[in-house]
Order: sequence, then C-alpha cells, then structure tokens
Amino acid sequence: MLLSASLCVEYGKHGGSVLWLHYMQRVPFVCGNWKMHKTVSESIALVNALSSRLTDTSVEIGVAPAHTSLYAVKKALADDRIRLVAQNVHEAPRGAFTGEVSMEMLLDVGCDYVLVGHSERRHIFGESDELVAQKVRTVLAGGLRVILALGETLDERKQGSTLMTVRRQLTSGLEGLSEDELAKVVLAYEPVWAIGTGLSASPDQAQEVHRALRTQISDGWGSEASTKLRIQYGGSIKPANAQALFSQLDIDGGLVGGASLLAEDFADICEAALT
Ligand code: 13P
Repeated sequence: MLLSASLCVEYGKHGGSVLWLHYMQRVPFVCGNWKMHKTVSESIALVNALSSRLTDTSVEIGVAPAHTSLYAVKKALADDRIRLVAQNVHEAPRGAFTGEVSMEMLLDVGCDYVLVGHSERRHIFGESDELVAQKVRTVLAGGLRVILALGETLDERKQGSTLMTVRRQLTSGLEGLSEDELAKVVLAYEPVWAIGTGLSASPDQAQEVHRALRTQISDGWGSEASTKLRIQYGGSIKPANAQALFSQLDIDGGLVGGASLLAEDFADICEAALT
C-alpha cells in the first residue's frame, strides 16, 4: 500500500542521464460511510469518540454522515484531522429538485470530499454511468475532492466480466479529466457482492482489480498520475481483515460501511492502514 516506486530520468550537470528511483508515498485514506444511520446527537457522539481514540495522523481519515448531520459533525470536529465527506450531491447548481442537495450547500457546511457512484446510488436509485460522470464533474468544478466508487455485481463476477465492468465505470466516470483534476480523485473499488454481506473480497481478488484500475489510469494519464492515485477498497471491511487488505500493493485504505458505526472498530481499521 504505502510505497511504490517510479523510475524517472533526469539530466545531470554534464549532460549524462541519471536514473533516479523515486519512492512515492501514497497516504492511505480510510473513510467511514455512515449511510442512512445516526441522528445528529448520535453522529456527534460517534465523531467525538473517534477523535479521542485516534492517536496517529499519518493516515487520512474521513467520515460521511447523513446530510442532516454534516454541519453538526463539522462543528464537533475539534481538529482538522478528520475529513468531512458528503454521501451524494445533485449535479445541478440549484433549482426545483425536491429532496436534493447542491454543491454550494456542501461547501457551505465545510465538506472536503463528495462520494459519487456508490453502488447503492447506482443500483437502488438507478444512477447511470453518465449521471455519475456528471456528478464527478460537478464536484470538481465546485472545488471539492471526489471519491468515485465502482464495482461489479455478483452476476458480473460469475460471468467473468469484473474487469470489463470496472474499466467501463472508470472510463465513463473520469472521461476528459485533466491531470490536475485527476489529482483530486480517489477511487473506491467496492464489489457489490461484498457490501454489507460479511463476505469481503480476498486480498488477492481486490489487488487484482486495483492493479487493473491503476494500469488503466497509467494508460490514460501517465505513470506518475497512476502512481499518485489512491484506490480504496470497500466491502465488509472489519478490524480482522483490514490489515491483510491494506497491505496489498495497490490498496490505499478503505471505504468502510457497517464497521465505521462503531468508534472502536473504525479506529482499529484506521490503525491497520498504518502497518
Ligand atoms: P460495508 O462495510 O458495510 O460492507 O459497506 C461498504 C460500503 O458500502 C462503504 O461505502
């Protein structure tokens, strides 16, 4: 997870080329997706418990409360170690969209990231690849960072089309982004069959997909951009399996659902990203 090497050629004083082995450090990013859980007071209690439990600052940590708790959680955060993540955004700047939330509103409450393309948005609420791509652009244009989630269903895995599916989602979600824009993107590979089922992908299964995604980024934006890009894994992460997943070369932290609702478990998972 932490270190990956990239080779680069530089020209020395006397014209000779020098090969440098650059070790690029990707800071792992562990984000708790609270989904439709926790009232305002419960959210404050959870983030306070988490803050007091966290000791190390070398992992980036985020929480994604329900929209109703975003403002309260932001105010409750005594320090800026924990990033505030919104679970969704509408693609339009404002207007008659009952029940939706705009980028301006998320900026106003102090969000740092917006999660886009979560499997529940794609599969329960019918968000298409095209809509997900529009939302990615909305978030970046608004000046926030984006976590783009993607992943295959159980049927797609059984049919052997896992890589085809995630490559399609990636191509569509990031199409046309500049390298600067890509630098504000974190990917989250979440196999749909592993979400909320207790059945995590094995470290090897996850690593295979993460590697394929990084290769695709390298093909599109170059090796430096792909070396820098962080790719989280999500789907039934628990304290017991986190370290094995996070120690894979191309897994840079996680997007955690159920286990992020318990401060102790989530803190343990964050700590697993350090080792
Ligand atoms: P679980 O950790 O509950 O499987 O959920 C994963 C997820 O959907 C995070 O976004």
